Amino acid sequence: MDEKEPVGVIGVGWVGVVTAACLAELGHEVWARDIVEEKVASLSRGEVPIHEPGLPELVAKNKDRLHFSADMAPVLEHARLLFVCVDTPPTYSGDADLSRVEAVLEELGDSNDHALVMKSTVPVGTGRSIQRRRDGLAYVANPEFLKEGSAVEDFMKPDRVVIGAEDDSARFADRVQALYAALDAPVVRTDVASAEMIKLASNAFLATKISFINEIANVSEELGADVSEVARGMGLDDRIGWKFLRAGIGYGGSCFPKDVQALKQLAGNSGYHFQLLTAVVEVNELQKRRTIGKLQKHLGSLVGKEIALLGVAFKPHTDDIREATSLVLSGRLAGEGASVRVYDPVAAAKADSMLAGARIADSAMDALDGADAAVLVTEWPEFAELDWAEVKRRMRFPLIVDGRNFLDREALIEAGFVYEGIGR
Ligand code: UGA
Repeated sequence: MDEKEPVGVIGVGWVGVVTAACLAELGHEVWARDIVEEKVASLSRGEVPIHEPGLPELVAKNKDRLHFSADMAPVLEHARLLFVCVDTPPTYSGDADLSRVEAVLEELGDSNDHALVMKSTVPVGTGRSIQRRRDGLAYVANPEFLKEGSAVEDFMKPDRVVIGAEDDSARFADRVQALYAALDAPVVRTDVASAEMIKLASNAFLATKISFINEIANVSEELGADVSEVARGMGLDDRIGWKFLRAGIGYGGSCFPKDVQALKQLAGNSGYHFQLLTAVVEVNELQKRRTIGKLQKHLGSLVGKEIALLGVAFKPHTDDIREATSLVLSGRLAGEGASVRVYDPVAAAKADSMLAGARIADSAMDALDGADAAVLVTEWPEFAELDWAEVKRRMRFPLIVDGRNFLDREALIEAGFVYEGIGR
């Protein structure tokens, strides 16, 4: 077997581009395809249409090994392993929409020359159902565990690589495993359904951890404890671990909300009521809205108040606004009669139409000038570097709601701000 096997990547959204660029970096010829022609055109010019640290450099460095096309033919011609990286967004019912996966299957027709390597997050049972319908088609589940903002590093230094396959596809699973050999990561080989479940269960567990610490934060506010201290003390227990114990104004993004919902729904469809996940979702929704109460506590009615939102992206180092807390907050604030200004170093323009009439500011200072309160929504590093003394002079009322416990509380209080964090 060729050590540097050529690979196909179908769908160059965020997961697809990262996968393509990283496999090229590992020395493979990558044949990538997307139905959106503009995306293909810009990637072919070496322009990366998403904000992901390190990715443009990787695409530029490996441009000779990266072949983008809007046509499936070159992919099928040059590669046997086809990494499926298409979107599987939630439908209104909370189930995953698999139409893009189905479209890929349709394009393959009856040919069994290729192996589908599923990177897209799909419901448990998808692989089995595809193999039942498409007798003889090799199928490997290879879920991704990439975090936006550190996806390149997560790909290159994974905690684990999960590869699920049934016996009839084992030799393709071996070939997929060989692609990751250089990464020196533990490999978990399982059946397909378990691999699918590992992905959903991992995201659901992390979301649970966040909702848990957010509830501890809310209780801490009432009882006078500081959730940051609590998380530090808890996290040192190896069994708990300190990661994903940062309290805040709720998780967002394209993955946690969707995957928690999908697992809950899958359980429900199988006749099981996943009670814990119902609470995880509810806590997260309430957490986003608690900010309103914190503003009202100091400002009274929000009618006519000028509120600055610092950060629009669902987390820093990305321009992704899917399920971002900023969208919920701007809508709720507008509903309360407030005027909202938002600033984000990369994501604001993208969110313009979804921000309920908020004014997009040119800079953080522009958003804060004359504001009655500021809510830190996304912990972009530049917000810690702001000239807060100047901010104090410019704000009409110096109220800061630090939705990520990110700013220097003591320094802000000393500078004369009214500071509200989360759980402290
Ligand atoms: C998440 C998972 O972390 C990845 O492992 C997974 O591959 C990915 O979903 C996916 O399924 O594709 P991502 O959504 O990019 O990655 O971002 P995270 O860093 O996990 O953050 C998700 C949300 O949780 C953000 O809104 C973040 O602010 C929030 N969060 C995270 C907290 O509120 N507290 C924390 O302690 C950590």
